[in-house]
Amino acid sequence: MSEGSLNMARRITIFDTTLRDGEQCPGASLTPTEKVEIAKQLARLGVDVIEGGFPIASPGDAQAVRMIARAVKGPTIAALARSLPADIDAAAASLAPAKKKRIHVFLATSPIHRKYKLRKAREEILRQAVWAVRYAKRFSRDIEFSPEDASRTEPAFLHQVIEAVIKAGATTVNIPDTVGFAIPEEFGRLIHGMMERVPNIHRAVISVHCHNDLGLAVPNSLSAIANGAGQVECTVNGIGERAGNASLEEIVMSLRVRPDIFHATTGIDTTHIYKTSRLVSSLTGIIVQPNKAIVGDNAFRHESGIHQDGILKYRQTYEIMRPQDVGVGESKLVLGKLSGRHAFARRLVSLGFRLSKPELERAFARFKVLADKKKEIFDNDLVAIVEDELPAAQEIYKLVYVHTTSGTDTVPTATIKLSKEGKLLHAASCGDGPVDACYKAINRLTGMAPELCAYSVHSVTRGKDALGEATVKLRYRRAEVMGRGTSTDVIEASAKAYVNAINRLLAQGSERSAARRSLRP
Ligand code: KIV
Ligand code: ZN
Repeated sequence: MSEGSLNMARRITIFDTTLRDGEQCPGASLTPTEKVEIAKQLARLGVDVIEGGFPIASPGDAQAVRMIARAVKGPTIAALARSLPADIDAAAASLAPAKKKRIHVFLATSPIHRKYKLRKAREEILRQAVWAVRYAKRFSRDIEFSPEDASRTEPAFLHQVIEAVIKAGATTVNIPDTVGFAIPEEFGRLIHGMMERVPNIHRAVISVHCHNDLGLAVPNSLSAIANGAGQVECTVNGIGERAGNASLEEIVMSLRVRPDIFHATTGIDTTHIYKTSRLVSSLTGIIVQPNKAIVGDNAFRHESGIHQDGILKYRQTYEIMRPQDVGVGESKLVLGKLSGRHAFARRLVSLGFRLSKPELERAFARFKVLADKKKEIFDNDLVAIVEDELPAAQEIYKLVYVHTTSGTDTVPTATIKLSKEGKLLHAASCGDGPVDACYKAINRLTGMAPELCAYSVHSVTRGKDALGEATVKLRYRRAEVMGRGTSTDVIEASAKAYVNAINRLLAQGSERSAARRSLRP
């Protein structure tokens, strides 16, 4: 990029909604403490706005927004509200401790939502939208308004709503493609039309918020940026309602790799992308598909001989960005059996982890056990160990011991020991296989029998001694949670994942989460 084009680059506002829309991803519920941990990492990543939650939806969401508003410095903290007094009051109350706060009000404008969901005529919608912005303005100067399902709204009515809410004081107007229906060229035209036809459009920032139902969330967002949008709403790893939201890392890296097309920059420190992706995956339990752009395991792997040869001769033959640019380490041998605590801690800091003393001690103990079993320890192994040791959820139950027997013509059995508040509990069970036997024994000990909706195991690194990472999705009294566990023994990893999910269910309280889901947009 030439210096001239750099000077002309527009600065795009990155509005991260991982903790609100991202958390609407089935199974991805986070405790307030986990949300704060992610929010702090989002601040290090350099996002401009963090949408922390939807405070009216549940006391947990309200508490999370309040804790983020108190603990996270730098970005603006946003909270979502319907265009109703109680919602706006709840958002304002949660945001009170924030230095920079934004109330994000929304109201559906499309004919289908007006007729079937809201049963309101256009005039009523217009009046309510204006009222909501004015009311929210009492609590904050920074107000965002979203006409929900904007991409399926009649353009003339959409323009009318936008003009009116800007006049009422909206500082950002967000155009959601709520159901992921738009096509990039069409969505770009929609933004362009607004720029041309809404007389006061330049008094507000135009934002976009795209869902991925047709796999077009990122192309739609980029097309909107090319047509004048100044803010983009996105989530880490693209998680979110149904097929998800536009992925933060894909948008940011597209802008960075193609300045010739977009002439736009962001405030993101891209070297934090990978670490943020791992943290979100680990705390939500939503694994990243291997071929996911930018942050998937295969994103920088070259299998073809021709490609490898090209890379060795001149890297850019097959690489449009460097793994280091997004914080992906060269997955190399980093430490061994004889490495000391100091080297271990230093390596973690270089991977972006700052652990408390007790966390570091626990992670180091895990590292030593792993080093006895595994000859080579890679960065990804360290990341998996640390993620296991971070307090992902209140640890009510802890797995202490697993023993299983299974084989041809043998009834699979498992003996499990769990600790709870310093007390040791043990039980045995048989099952259809060793993992099923473990899960039945854990159910006996916890008195819970959640439905196992999904189960998978994959290896963290390569080789037969690789760490196995198990992921489970449990459903219990209408709440769904994910759980994760790692070990060189896949049965132990599976038991850890199950206990992790049970702890999340207990931390969350199933009724609270069911109530929250019913309110979500
Ligand atoms: O998808 C959507 O329309 C939303 C709004 C609340 C912005 O998430
Ligand atoms: Zn959304």
